[in-house]
Amino acid sequence: MNLWRTKTIEQSIADTEEPEHQLRKRLSALDLTVFGVGVVIGTGIFVLTGQAAGVQAGPAVALSFVFAGIACALAALCYAEFASTVPVAGSAYTFAYASLGELVAWIIGWDLILEMALGASTVAVGWSTYFADVMSSAGITIPDWAYGEGHNLVAATIVLLLTAVICAGIKISSHVNMAMVVVKVGVVLFVIIAGLFYVKASNYSPFIPPSGSAGAGGVESTPSLLQELGFAPGTFGVAGIFTAAALVFFAFIGFDIVATAAEETKKPQRDVPIGILGSLAICTALYVAVSLVITGMVKYTDIQVDAPLAEAFRSVGRPGFATVISVGALFGLTTVMMILMLGQSRVLFAMSRDRLLPPVFSKVSPRFGTPVRTTVTTGVVVALISTFVPLTELAELVNIGTLFAFILVAVGVLVLRRTRPDLRRGFRVPGVPVVPVLAILTSFYLMLNLPVETWIRFLIWMALGVVVYFVYAAGHSRLATDPHYSREADAAASARRKG
Ligand code: ALA
Repeated sequence: MNLWRTKTIEQSIADTEEPEHQLRKRLSALDLTVFGVGVVIGTGIFVLTGQAAGVQAGPAVALSFVFAGIACALAALCYAEFASTVPVAGSAYTFAYASLGELVAWIIGWDLILEMALGASTVAVGWSTYFADVMSSAGITIPDWAYGEGHNLVAATIVLLLTAVICAGIKISSHVNMAMVVVKVGVVLFVIIAGLFYVKASNYSPFIPPSGSAGAGGVESTPSLLQELGFAPGTFGVAGIFTAAALVFFAFIGFDIVATAAEETKKPQRDVPIGILGSLAICTALYVAVSLVITGMVKYTDIQVDAPLAEAFRSVGRPGFATVISVGALFGLTTVMMILMLGQSRVLFAMSRDRLLPPVFSKVSPRFGTPVRTTVTTGVVVALISTFVPLTELAELVNIGTLFAFILVAVGVLVLRRTRPDLRRGFRVPGVPVVPVLAILTSFYLMLNLPVETWIRFLIWMALGVVVYFVYAAGHSRLATDPHYSREADAAASARRKG
């Protein structure tokens, strides 16, 4: 068994041209940027900012956003290079298959489930709380049987509705998304501008609360791996900026998913890098501004950990503004869920096309031009998880999984530069090897700032993935079982060696 067998880039691209596996190429750079912003702004800024400012970093949470944003920008450059080189559905998975071999590709694909399916479930649970909040300000109470921890039918319903939209075709979902993104960005700008009038300079001191200070509402932050190992002191202080960064990293998740839509893009070489870097730049600027405004409006020790943005306005006597913000959050979280699920179904699609997963997952519906079965399966699983599991505390698990994928992508860029210097790259990472190496180091550093339990859950999930690989995927792999397919790959590889 050859665990390091790679699929050639030519093979990956040729696969997308097989008629029964073809996704429609309809997206532009603007669509991708909107996709990016649509998935990026969500639970991270609307919810997690409270926790990060209140119990980890204080007003210095703005610096946490900057650090997390830098880590993402470094990784984004690597994603942009691979996505412009291998414009095929499946994101980091496809890239790894072409550069690092089948086992690593499988590991990434498995890992991306943490990011996308679990991420979507997390956001769906958050969505349901905002929904209940908006309903209650309209005087409507959702019955207990339909909404609550462990039986969250509200979360399941929104997930299934969105699944139907995704099935109906990516162009439709991109229109729906565009409308919601406009509302969401409007609300974020509203928070920044309206909030400015209530900022008090005294709330910024101390800007970096001394290490060991008490947090908001007596809530303790879980110590990070670095803290447990004794390499960093307790909460707050300079170290707190980084533990908060590891949490608010969640706010940036999604720009990489723009890369998963590469195969459905009209001019991937040009449009994908624009989409990825553009959406990241916009979001970083908004996050820094929002976090400065919120910590300026409310003393960090008084910040509400659950709905910090709306609460900040309630606390300055503006309940009407708070409602507007809650409604905006509802829209914001909707697009996040939709695109996370879209990304997930495309990764499963790509894995199935390679026969690492059963073939039914890569059938494209002739009617809709989308992989309907994969999309429905993804939707049902996400709905089930969000119904039964209270996932808010698992944002960290989503983060560790995504950071790990970033590391593998950066390694992949370095490897592919060596093994395939000849490939046409629509976008090249500047300053190789420095930028990919920095991407690896910053992502790993953020991983170290996550709690021990997160590491344990992550390692268990990945170990399970390795077992599934050996029990199912390795034996069914198209590269391993289809002699014609692997002969082509071998021929291409040996031509490469000779050439
Ligand atoms: N970045 C997305 C959010 O914050 C996942 O909700």
